[in-house]
Parts: sequence; structure tokens; C-alpha cells
Amino acid sequence: MATGTSLSAVFPLGSRLNERGRLEVGGCDTIELAREFGTPAYVMAEDDLRARARAFVAAAGPAGHPQVSVAFASKALPCTAVLRVFAEEGLWCDVASAGELGLALNAGFTTERIVLHGNAKSEAELRMALRHGVGLIVVDNFDEIDRLTRLTSDGESAEGDPQPVLVRATPDVRGQTHEKISTGQADSKFGFAMDEVGIAIERIEAIAGLECKGVHTHIGSQLLELEPFRKAVVELSKLGEFPVWDLGGGLGVAYTEDQEPPCIEDYMAAVIDAAAEHLGVHSQLLIEPGRALVANAGVTLYSVESVKRNVSTWVAVDGGMSDNLRPMLYGAVYEAHVADRFGGATSCVLAGKHCESGDVIVRAALLDDPRPGDVIVTPATGAYGFAMASNYNGVGRPPVIFCKDGQARVVVRRESFEDLTARDVP
Ligand code: LLP
Repeated sequence: MATGTSLSAVFPLGSRLNERGRLEVGGCDTIELAREFGTPAYVMAEDDLRARARAFVAAAGPAGHPQVSVAFASKALPCTAVLRVFAEEGLWCDVASAGELGLALNAGFTTERIVLHGNAKSEAELRMALRHGVGLIVVDNFDEIDRLTRLTSDGESAEGDPQPVLVRATPDVRGQTHEKISTGQADSKFGFAMDEVGIAIERIEAIAGLECKGVHTHIGSQLLELEPFRKAVVELSKLGEFPVWDLGGGLGVAYTEDQEPPCIEDYMAAVIDAAAEHLGVHSQLLIEPGRALVANAGVTLYSVESVKRNVSTWVAVDGGMSDNLRPMLYGAVYEAHVADRFGGATSCVLAGKHCESGDVIVRAALLDDPRPGDVIVTPATGAYGFAMASNYNGVGRPPVIFCKDGQARVVVRRESFEDLTARDVP
């Protein structure tokens, strides 16, 4: 909530209410952004992206572990301009498909800084990764080992060098999060059970074209406590010693001002300390944050189309589940404000424009007398909004606008009617 001109940490760093009481992101007036670029629109503060990348990297330095690399989990925001920022900041990139691999290469990540994931990698995806010689392929299951055996014996690899791989382990550690994004439990669709990891490693070691470097785990996403990360490290340490450990992502973020996730520094210290204590300090450590790098760097701007009152006050906007599926999928809670009248007290249902009753963005938004034409902002939409957007009801996906020092530029344009028919075969 706004106090004077400062805003809560839910908003991008440097956001403020200007002299006219309007929200500014990256120095840009959001009412003017809405006028210039239309709504809905994803608005990102470029400096915020860089600041969070630097915070992760800086926190890796003094924490007592000589080799820590930070990979952006690109699934959180697979947008070329964002990937370029993180490539420039020296991060690695986690990809989970041929498409994400292509995006990462196109955005400038060097191949040795790319990590390929996936529980159902196709032969074509593995072939692409091997040809490029990505830094690491994270092997998920025995069928994938068979597939890799065939591909590497067919001579499918970068320079004939063995392809470095990790084995994904499922440590049976559950963090508190929505069941749909919890992955560390024994009955998970991802990775090898702990008692199978050794067998998987043995089989990989027998393949000339592969080199097993170590173990990966990712216990889940939007975790607001550090303990499960520590517990996972303790479980992993029972597997032995390896040159590389990849501890995945999962650090949660604040979607509303009352949430208090661990800060980047505390998270990094906890993970790195646990690794130093239980896994040793001589191995390379990777972590793969997605959400924590991008969620709070972005807001979505909508325009109010109608306001009607029955049992509730329904404020309907020009977007919804097609640009932010998270409330419907995970019951995710967001806050909303009128972009030039913060601090409202009317409890409203902020509804989307799609043909389903469940298309509600915020169930109990406190808005100041919302009217048609008002610009509404929902903060913390930088992660998994753009990524999971759709064309439901023939709605074109919103543009992505980068804001920095008062300058705005479109980095992804709005989808047009022509885009909606572009794949039709006459
Ligand atoms: N590494 C691996 C192997 C992952 O599967 C994921 C996320 C990450 C890293 C990054 O996790 P993060 O730091 O973003 O929590 N669509 C859901 C989130 C799905 C996460 C999938 N995997 C949501 O909107 O909450």
C-alpha cells in the first residue's frame, strides 16, 4: 500500500507515486503508458531485473563457497529482451524444451551456460542439446538414458567431447506450496527416486559419450521458508560426493504487501551454507531462480470496461485469465489498485473479460471508486504470466514494455488479429 510516494516491495524497485498521485514504474507514468501502448500491458522495470540478478550474484560471492553459478529459469519469463538482460549480467540459463533452448541461444547465452531440463525430452530436443553441446543435460529417467545412449553412439555431440550431464534426484522433501508446483515429494513426475540415483549414475558412466558431473534437485516453487531447501541438501549429501550440485529454484516472492518471503541474500546464505556443510566446498554449485528474478519486476496494466453491482461490486477489465492464469490455476492472490488513485476502500471483485465465472484476477480488491476507463494495476505479475498466456476467446496476448529512467520501449508487441490467423492453412 502506498505511504506518501513510496510503495511496498511488491512493486518493482524504484516504483513510486508521482506528484499527480500516479504510479510510476522505471520512471514512467503508468497512465501515460496505458495511453501510449494500450492495455492490457506487461510493464517491466529493467533496472529491477538487473538489480535482482546482481543481488543473486553478489550474494554468491561472500557466502563461503568458491564456485556458485546462478541460472535464470527461463520458463518464468521466456521473453528475449529479459533473457538478454540476464545473459549480459552473466547468468546461466535453465531451459526445459527445444523452444526455450532456441530462445536462450538467440538471446546470447553461451552454450556452456545452458542447462536443459525436462521429464519428457524428445529425441529432437536431446539431439539439439547434444549438437550445441549445452553445459549440462539434467537426466530425468531411465528411458532418457537409453535415448542418450543411442544418440551419443550415433555420434550426436558437439565436438566428440562427452556431454556433461546431471542426474535429477527426488529427495522426498516437501516444502509448503501449492500441490501443483511441489516437486520434491517421492511420488513426483520428476527425477529418480533416491535409491535409483546410484543405478542411473552407473549406467551413465558406462556410456562413452556422456560424463556424469553430479546431481540436480528442484523441490518446488513459491517456497516461503528456507528449511526445506536445507533439508533437501542434507538428503542429497547421502548420495556421495560430486563435482557439480544443482539445487534448482523455488524461492518464493511477495504477491501482496503482507507476504514476507526470505530475501535473496538470506536464501543464498542458507543454501550455500548448507551446501558447504553437507556437500563440501570443492564442488560447483548451481541454483536456478525463476520467479524471484522477475515476478516483482513487472506489473500488469488493465483498463476498466464496466462496473456493476449485485451482491458484489464487479469491476471488469480488458484482460484476465489469458494474461494471468495463476489465480485460476493455483488460487494465487494478487493486489490491485487504480493506477492514479491508490488507497481505495471499496471491496471489489476484479474480473477478467473471459467467458468463465472463474476468470477473476483479484477476489477482494480494495479500489477507490473504480469507473470505466480507469487504469488498474496488478503488481508482481512478472513471473509465469506472460509465460502461460493464451489466446482464449481470441484475445491477443499483451505487449511487454521495458521502462528505464523514464523511457519506455516495446520489447514484445501486442498480438494482432493477423497473428491469430497466421497459422491457418487455407
Ligand atoms: N528449476 C527447475 C527444474 C524448475 O522446474 C523450476 C520451476 C525452476 C527451476 C524455477 O522455479 P522458481 O524459482 O520460479 O520457483 N507456473 C507455476 C510455477 C511452475 C514452476 C515450474 N518449475 C506458477 O505460476 O507458480
